Amino acid sequence: MKKTWFLSVLLLLMASAPLFAQKPPDLAQTPPMGWNTWNTFQVNIDEPLLKGMVDAYVSSGMRDAGYTYFVLDDGWMTMERDNNGSLVADPKKFPNGMKEFADYVHSKGMKFGIYNCAGTKTCAGYPGTRGYEYQDARLYASWGVDYLKYDWCNTDSLNAREAYITMSSALKATGRPIVFSLCEWGNHHPWLWAKGVGQLYRTTGDIYAGFVDNKNLGTWSALSVLNILDKQVNIRQYAGPGHWNDPDMLEVGNGMTFNEDKAHFSLWCMLAAPLMAGNDLRKMSEQTKDILTNKDVIAIDQDALGAEGFRYYSFDGLEIWVKPLSNGDLAVCFLNRSSHYQNITYDWMAHAIQDKISNTNVDFTQTTYKLRDLWAKKDAGTTRKVFKEVIPAHDVVLLKLSKE
Ligand code: GLA
Repeated sequence: MKKTWFLSVLLLLMASAPLFAQKPPDLAQTPPMGWNTWNTFQVNIDEPLLKGMVDAYVSSGMRDAGYTYFVLDDGWMTMERDNNGSLVADPKKFPNGMKEFADYVHSKGMKFGIYNCAGTKTCAGYPGTRGYEYQDARLYASWGVDYLKYDWCNTDSLNAREAYITMSSALKATGRPIVFSLCEWGNHHPWLWAKGVGQLYRTTGDIYAGFVDNKNLGTWSALSVLNILDKQVNIRQYAGPGHWNDPDMLEVGNGMTFNEDKAHFSLWCMLAAPLMAGNDLRKMSEQTKDILTNKDVIAIDQDALGAEGFRYYSFDGLEIWVKPLSNGDLAVCFLNRSSHYQNITYDWMAHAIQDKISNTNVDFTQTTYKLRDLWAKKDAGTTRKVFKEVIPAHDVVLLKLSKE
């Protein structure tokens, strides 16, 4: 009797093993970090260029600063599927095939990402995934893909939520942990439904390397850093570990001034945004490198609490953004949006910070914090003293506050 009981338990455990094996791992517990081809190269990508970029990713210190993913955006495939309906890596661009390239990325200690689109064609006119979701997902898994960016062009009347759920299920069915990056530009409010579907979801249209004004491109407008920033204000409660609002990739090193790049990077870190660099890593200036690899600033983005920052104060072009951090610490970013310098004189003791979403309650008359200026890389006193600083135009002062 005892033996039969033991046997049935054993059989039951064996039968349920695949169920346990299928539990998806907890992906993207902090915002994904990486590099993507689009912002600099658009569809003009090929293996020699990209192998050089992989090498530069390592030699520039990006990988060691925490960037993990190497993502090919639009333009990696041929214009048609093959006779079996499979996508084909363009043999002129990738003569050794995509698996070989993915292996190269992996051999350097990074993860590999790729792009497609929920519609019939990608935004640049290559074959889209509509109707081929499971087939494409299996192909990606066979290549060793770790991350899929999934766009929203040529989707006609497709239901966004359903289309993204279908692809999400197809990726999960491969059994390979693949981060799923939803890119439907915030049109269907993915922050309301994409948790559990993917790990990051674009909240706006495309960024460009401009700080203040959007750029009119005829049929659409590319968005500035400040415009995208303003669009994040009411959606922070929907982001957290494993599900991030994505205000689009970084334009650091792509043409804005040093101050603007520094502000852009700081603000994306305050937003707990995915940090996908998009500059030419082979030709980074020292200033660009200093921005992208500042570990203390990256740590604000990657903080384990996963709280998105909020605009605490705004007056006459000067803003204060606050991001609650783990251990009761805080990041505070003074942003000067205006085109002239501004003086800050800030009395911590006169302003308590409260945030219902992260359950933060800070009264500086009760608790003193030490200040660390993360760009100047120096201590900046404590919250017992009035904080005074001059901020140049389109720049920030970024402080980390730790309990004394
Ligand atoms: C859309 C996306 C961009 C990029 C291009 C590629 O515009 O939003 O990030 O992927 O498509 O064609």
